Amino acid sequence: MLIARTLAELRQHLQRFERPAFVPTMGNLHEGHLQLLQHAKPLGDVLVASIFVNRLQFLPHEDFASYPRTFEDDCAKLRSQACDVLFAPDEAELYPQPQTFKVLPDPALADILEGQFRPGFFTGVSTVVMKLFMAVFAGHAHGVAVFGKKDYQQLMVIRQMVRQFALPIDIIGVDTCRAADGLALSSRNGYLSSDERIEAVQLSMSLRQLGQEALSVSNDLASQLPRMEAQAMDRLRERGWQPDYLTVRNRLDLQAPLAGDALVVLGAAKLGKTRLIDNLELIRP
Ligand code: PAF
Repeated sequence: MLIARTLAELRQHLQRFERPAFVPTMGNLHEGHLQLLQHAKPLGDVLVASIFVNRLQFLPHEDFASYPRTFEDDCAKLRSQACDVLFAPDEAELYPQPQTFKVLPDPALADILEGQFRPGFFTGVSTVVMKLFMAVFAGHAHGVAVFGKKDYQQLMVIRQMVRQFALPIDIIGVDTCRAADGLALSSRNGYLSSDERIEAVQLSMSLRQLGQEALSVSNDLASQLPRMEAQAMDRLRERGWQPDYLTVRNRLDLQAPLAGDALVVLGAAKLGKTRLIDNLELIRP
């Protein structure tokens, strides 16, 4: 596996390939990332991963400084998936000057849910993903990039960005990888104490219950959802969580659903000091 530290090295190496398949990450790789790589591998003629902890997508009080950095371990995992190229720039390479030009996503999508509780998060994500796409795909007629559905809203923002800028990149979403008890895999799960780790599955269980309740409503879901969502959040609060949101939305634009819409239930909640997010696409019986 080639480890490219600079844009110039990366671009020079990728010139000889036609269709890069790309998995951007912030490192601290787990089984979920490995599944993204497995999906990506057959989709291109060179498999590229990136590791870059992107300061722009962290609020000042968030965990940028303490975000787990496990480079050697990550490289071993990437090699185990036959990754061909790792792009691992430092901040001076990706942000040689303060990044004053930014990609501003549509507020209707980016200022709700995660964006409401993490203002500027999707601007930070869109900006770095655009830079990474320019690094990996510039000079290529086609490319493919693979993202996890665990970050459902992020995947939607990136799809919209690619559509609006007409980038010649296919965006593939891969189902969330879960531990045996149902907890969605996340680098932030490593922050949980052993008691919190046992409790953590309650987020996905609460989403499942809220989703089932929503699916059981035969008419006027919109008027009943606020009560159901509030009850779901109260149940988590009673167990010691601090929920930001648990909500049922339509899958097209993450707005409140109308009758017949395809649905997704999404949630974010803090357990102790750790903020977890999860979602489930709802399947009508
Ligand atoms: O999902 C992530 O790991 C990050 O948000 C991403 C897409 C690599 C951008 O920093």
